Amino acid sequence: MTQASFPARRMRRLRAHDALRGLVAEHHLKAQDLIYPIFVLPGTNQAEAVPSMPGVMRRSVDLWLPEIEKLLALGIRVFAPFPVTPAELKSECAREAYNPEGLVQTAIRQIKLRFNEAVIMSDVALDPFTSHGQDGLVDASGYVVNDATVEVLQQQALSHAEAGADMVAPSDMMDGRIGAIRQSLEQNGHVNTCIMAYSAKYASAYYGPFRDAVGSAGNIKGGNKKAYQMDPANSDEAIHEITLDIAEGADMVMVKPGMPYLDIVRRCKQELQVPTFAYQVSGEYAMHQAAFANGWLNREAVILESLLAFKRAGADGILTYFAPEAANLLQS
Ligand code: PBG
Repeated sequence: MTQASFPARRMRRLRAHDALRGLVAEHHLKAQDLIYPIFVLPGTNQAEAVPSMPGVMRRSVDLWLPEIEKLLALGIRVFAPFPVTPAELKSECAREAYNPEGLVQTAIRQIKLRFNEAVIMSDVALDPFTSHGQDGLVDASGYVVNDATVEVLQQQALSHAEAGADMVAPSDMMDGRIGAIRQSLEQNGHVNTCIMAYSAKYASAYYGPFRDAVGSAGNIKGGNKKAYQMDPANSDEAIHEITLDIAEGADMVMVKPGMPYLDIVRRCKQELQVPTFAYQVSGEYAMHQAAFANGWLNREAVILESLLAFKRAGADGILTYFAPEAANLLQS
């Protein structure tokens, strides 16, 4: 009698039906993992599409409030406002960045007043406020100067905390800014304001649609941010940056962009075991939307798969323009 041959190990047993697949699933995506970036227009009753980000709307705060109410009901609890600053408020020295009555500061106050349970993560960087579109102050040669920029960032972060931001998120990549911001928060009694440090932020070409959305694309012209954002060639350097930011007082760190940098997310979580977040940026969103619009990819399945990939890589949460749609899909 010949012995029947069979595979020594049948991996497919645990994939045979849905309940078994659910039982052995290693990672899960939940609405509470998602952070939603929102573009804020000045004025009231204003709403505008972003052509390079189909489905994304810029809205004045009054029109964001009912949206936020719906999103809270879907389980999204963290919102990241980005201002669409009118050109006449942009300057060389970015003074609008720390105006207590500025667009972001007002948005924070209004959202927190209405929904105290919402968490506001405010972006700290000067690019929405500079006439040249760089994230910091520039010298005569156009070089972004570090220490003078950090002083403005401290004022900006403090103005956000004073308006009620739960979390400030420096995305500028200046050296020493986390320590400086932590110090001014502490000195002014904001001991529980979290710092989400964009520690590993790359000089990426995936940010284009965002610059359209906040209206800074035209300002930066042909320029780039390579003298402060990280070189996409580097990985050890990201671990170095993250280690420094944690030592300076960051509570959480961010890797950005997202999907092309999942190796960095993985290394961060594995080597440092700190709260790790990733930003599925505007260019990633636009690529997905383009494929959906052409019928090349299955919209719902790909949105959820793309976000689950971040969790598998080690992210605790994801900033994504798909947050509302993903939260809807997770409910069904
Ligand atoms: C700037 C900032 C950028 C993004 C968030 N904050 C763009 C940049 O560095 O030029 C990009 C986000 C996205 O592309 O979705 N401080």
